[in-house]
Amino acid sequence: MVNIQTVTICFEPLPFYRQKQRSPFESTTGIILLVPTLPLNQILQGDCIEILNSLPENSVDLVFADPPYNLQLQNDLYRPNNTRVDAVKDRWDKFSSFAEYDEFTINWLRASRRILKETGTIWVIGSYHNIFRVGAVMQDLGFWILNDVIWLKTNPMPNFRGVRFTNAHETLIWAQKQKGAKYKFNHKDMKALNDDLQMRSNWVIPLATGKERIKSNGTKAHPTQKPEALLYRILLASTDAGDVVLDPFFGSGTTGAVAKMMGRHFIGIERDKKYIKVAQKRIDAVAPAPAEALILPGKQKQVRVPFGALLENGYLKIGGKLTFAKGKREAVILANGHIKCGKITGSIHKVASELSNAPANGWEMWMYAERGKLKSINELREKFRKKLKDQG
Ligand SMILES: C[S@@+](CC[C@H](N)C(=O)[O-])C[C@H]1O[C@@H](n2cnc3c(N)ncnc32)[C@H](O)[C@@H]1O
Repeated sequence: MVNIQTVTICFEPLPFYRQKQRSPFESTTGIILLVPTLPLNQILQGDCIEILNSLPENSVDLVFADPPYNLQLQNDLYRPNNTRVDAVKDRWDKFSSFAEYDEFTINWLRASRRILKETGTIWVIGSYHNIFRVGAVMQDLGFWILNDVIWLKTNPMPNFRGVRFTNAHETLIWAQKQKGAKYKFNHKDMKALNDDLQMRSNWVIPLATGKERIKSNGTKAHPTQKPEALLYRILLASTDAGDVVLDPFFGSGTTGAVAKMMGRHFIGIERDKKYIKVAQKRIDAVAPAPAEALILPGKQKQVRVPFGALLENGYLKIGGKLTFAKGKREAVILANGHIKCGKITGSIHKVASELSNAPANGWEMWMYAERGKLKSINELREKFRKKLKDQG
């Protein structure tokens, strides 16, 4: 007799350094799991809508998408010296009408939204040819736009015929899966990356040229290879090491190369085998950065230490004195971990807040005396944390 059981499977990836890929049929309970696991760090060949629809819902942290632009170029474009401009004229960029492009856009965006975690976000890059249509579809599908970012190209292609402005930027839309959900924005890392100034929404980044540009037989291996600097900023801003990033229009694999270098998992989808070959070779050559450089300070989960733990563990004594950093008021430490300052009794935070008439973090306000010197109780907390960590 066969026991039929319902199994709930969590697709939450382990931290990247502990990840062990499981086969779809492997189970510790002996029950056969017919649910696909995430194909991490792989390039999947085929149509992105079909493949996205086969992946588990609510499973990836970030989608980066660089979809066809629908450039609608009719004729070849020539420079003044009669050389032909290397524009995007590939089949993948051709749609018979705006309606066909819109339908395609609705389908891949809906499929991307399904596989995004509730806390996930999506970045879509495009030019004036498509980005307004894409933005409207995103809003209609329930995405909530967080920012639009201008990628200002330092070395754009001139407008050879001089009939329009030089087109020197592309637009990125950054959106969350739904309005009001928690989402990731590494504000401090963005600030640090920008000499301690808040990062703005205009990013000045050169096109991928020179050594960065992948060539095969002397010509560009992919017509729209994006700069790695762009992906670096996106991944640092909206993912952490170990997160899963999916790119449904993988092309030459820029997203995968940067994700691997930064300790993120990637899933790439690309229809064209020729581009998959280019991308795989490129990613294989990337060395991941050392783990200790990727887990940034502030991102490590701190062990919570309540004030009372310092009493229980002999770091402070019942009846001992704490000095309030502002105004030199003193408080007595009570047996239950509360403190008493004049008529005010409560936690270190409550008493500090009342004394300063504003919300206050008690760990930063109270001092204790050690060999005649006043020191912050935060130092004691760190000492205790270190001991806990050393004990494993
Ligand atoms: C604008 S390019 C992406 C370039 C990429 N960001 C890079 O840095 O190399 C779009 C890519 O999507 C692929 N593509 C177009 N339609 C697709 C579809 N329906 N499914 C999967 N891939 C598709 C094209 O072959 C092309 O390589």
